[in-house]
Amino acid sequence: MVGLQGCGKSTWVREHLAATHAVVSKDHWPHARHREARQRRVVAQLLAEGRSVVVDNTNPAPEDRTPLVAAARAAGAAVRAVWIDTPLETCLERNEARTGRARVPVVGVLATRGRLVPPNTEEGFDRIDVVREPP
Ligand SMILES: Nc1ncnc2c1ncn2[C@@H]1O[C@H](COP(=O)(O)OP(=O)(O)OP(=O)(O)O)[C@@H](O)[C@H]1O
Ligand SMILES: [Mg+2]
Repeated sequence: MVGLQGCGKSTWVREHLAATHAVVSKDHWPHARHREARQRRVVAQLLAEGRSVVVDNTNPAPEDRTPLVAAARAAGAAVRAVWIDTPLETCLERNEARTGRARVPVVGVLATRGRLVPPNTEEGFDRIDVVREPP
């Protein structure tokens, strides 16, 4: 998955992939140390077990995605990017409407926006889907 905080990734995953895929997200371990390494380990293990896996993080930049593409390749799995391209304003509104830990600082959303590079087939994806809601 690719997209800003509040864009609707987890909602989309629930509706489209949760029935068929193991859902991995660093958000599942908010207090763990070395969450990135842990996530990579979990993804590799699930793939080795033959499971389909979805990584539900913002993954805004190629450097975030390259290790995931490599993990899929190493396991002989096809790899797909789903970019939830919700307008920044909408993401900020949805984020504002959240409570507790789900609500992230506005600067966090803006930082992700600053790092966001749309996924490209040159990164190794077999398939890229862009999800845009009708205005
Ligand atoms: N298509 C949609 N239309 C309206 N509201 C939506 C839609 N998708 C998600 N939302 C709402 O927007 C909020 C954020 O959605 P969601 O938690 O799926 O975002 P996220 O991309 O997973 O965010 P994060 O990166 O912070 O985990 C939620 O309150 C959700 O109910
Ligand atoms: Mg989410």
